[in-house]
Amino acid sequence: MTGLVLGSGLDGLVERVEVAETVSFADAGLPVSTVPGHQGCFVLGKLGGTDIVVMRGRVHLYEGHSAQAVTAGVRWMAEQGVDSLVLTNAAGSLREDLHPGSWMILNDHLNLTGTSPLEGGPRFIDMTGAYDPAWRSEFMAVCEARKLALGEGVYAGLRGPQYETAAEVRMLRTMGADAVGMSTVLETIQARALGLRVLGLSCLTNFGAGMPGAELDHGDVVATAGKAAEAMIGALEAWASGS
Ligand code: HPA
Repeated sequence: MTGLVLGSGLDGLVERVEVAETVSFADAGLPVSTVPGHQGCFVLGKLGGTDIVVMRGRVHLYEGHSAQAVTAGVRWMAEQGVDSLVLTNAAGSLREDLHPGSWMILNDHLNLTGTSPLEGGPRFIDMTGAYDPAWRSEFMAVCEARKLALGEGVYAGLRGPQYETAAEVRMLRTMGADAVGMSTVLETIQARALGLRVLGLSCLTNFGAGMPGAELDHGDVVATAGKAAEAMIGALEAWASGS
């Protein structure tokens, strides 16, 4: 079964799901997100004829939650039988050629949160190919067939909640990051520790601070993601239905 985590502004993805059941974060034993645009429930149903669990919203380190709390949703979905996990997020682009409103598929990440959900064990898991290379190619082919432009790159996950300084953006670019956000990396670590395969998709909502054209405003981030969500809904549905 596939799990799908929806980031800021991407809630519209849930509209194509044939809903069988809804479970609130509270009923699943998860902390409730305080960020506007994050719903806080699981939707179990079908997308393109395939069983899916959608996590509407997520909790973040910057809300004061621990790495364990941030990844509780991944463990809950794995308990429901999820073995393939799509993680979506809104992120800042660190590359001039990746424009706001477009999508980037993650081929790797930099965990710059300073923490891990695996403190206390299991330890020393191999993070090579954490974003499943075969699944990535398959999904890129689906997007290409649909003429959906999809960049590819490295996502840097920071704690936030403030956006980066211009100097931090320069540092991240030098370090090899292509996008920056405040989620996803801990969920990927938890998912890999449980043996789930992971696909990561960043909706690029703005250029990083200090880059030409950069405008950083949470309202704009959510609005841009909302508009870009439409194209990705179609691609995810096509992938789920095997076309
Ligand atoms: N930085 C961090 N997180 C983000 C950004 C950004 O520029 N845009 C959307 N989420």
